[in-house]
Amino acid sequence: MNIPFGVKISGLGSAVPPKIIKNSDLESLFETNSEWIESRTGILERRICEFSAEKPDSLDLSIKAAKQALGNTSPEELDLIIVATSTPDYLYPSTACRLQSALGAKNILAFDLSAACSGFVFALMTASQFIQLGTAKKVLIVGVDIHSRFMDWTDRSTAILFGDGAGAALIERTSAENNQLLSHSLHSDGSGACELYLKSVGGQFPNGKIQKPVETVFMNGKKIYQFAVKAIPDILANITGNIDLKTENIDYLICHQANQRILDSVAEKLNWPKEKCLSNIAKYGNTSAASIPLAWHEYKDQIENNSLLALVGFGAGLTWGGILWRWKQF
Ligand code: UT7
Repeated sequence: MNIPFGVKISGLGSAVPPKIIKNSDLESLFETNSEWIESRTGILERRICEFSAEKPDSLDLSIKAAKQALGNTSPEELDLIIVATSTPDYLYPSTACRLQSALGAKNILAFDLSAACSGFVFALMTASQFIQLGTAKKVLIVGVDIHSRFMDWTDRSTAILFGDGAGAALIERTSAENNQLLSHSLHSDGSGACELYLKSVGGQFPNGKIQKPVETVFMNGKKIYQFAVKAIPDILANITGNIDLKTENIDYLICHQANQRILDSVAEKLNWPKEKCLSNIAKYGNTSAASIPLAWHEYKDQIENNSLLALVGFGAGLTWGGILWRWKQF
């Protein structure tokens, strides 16, 4: 397809709250042990937003990540802000509108996008299409989630996995010849909604003592695991096949960080060295919509120029999707 404009990435940023919860800290909350968590998930610790009248909340994390991604770009140069989140501080107004105001980005469009752990990939595609059609020149996208507010802190099957964080990217118009977005494949299947969900009444953690919120995350971990280990290689085959490449042409996979065993199983299935699947899950756990930009930001200086990146998200909805991206240092 001929496109009038290309897209390029010109900034990345990330932010996590300071409070660290180690695996051993969870041993007093429910029956578990650090070794089980580490060997079954690869997670050693995660960050959480402590509940206090002060902060941080998802807006604070978004602001920090966004400012890093913007670098010297003035917020006033933006045309659009998209925030991918499933755990906003407010159901409305959107986190994107609050971020727009906090950054001082006037007279632009700002909206949230809800696609759970696939949110960043969906937001990147949405931003790119605004740019490729000529509707926007500079778009800020943020993936942010604060799952700690929506956990049942007595449920060992979910509470071990999630952490809080934000990641951001600045996407800009470039010439069609320099387009960095090479291929994509996005999917939804609402019939899987019952396997991973969060109803819309939240609660708070920790506020002195553990409280069970009214509504918390439900996850059929096994089903989601099985879905992920099939969906990821399929997506990689799709996005490479679209442009007559093979999965071995991918230099790095920046995948949603849900479980180290999921990443290892992709490497094994595709006969890749494990290092090809970039991972920071040990430090942050599953940060949902933030996990891909958080890993991208963290690894950006180690990724060689011109590398072929596969960005793959999957999660509640069910939703899943991948983007093939030609990495250029900025
Ligand atoms: O971001 C959204 C996408 N989410 C995901 O991708 C998550 C995908 N799922 C998973 O990562 C894994 O299914 C989990 C990490 C959630 C669970 O790992 P698992 O290997 O599937 O464990 P399991 O549920 O099959 O449980 C195995 C055993 C059970 O004991 P029995 O029945 O064999 O005696 C569980 O009761 O491990 C037990 N168990 C635990 N033990 C200690 C489950 N959770 C824990 C725990 N600590 N936290």
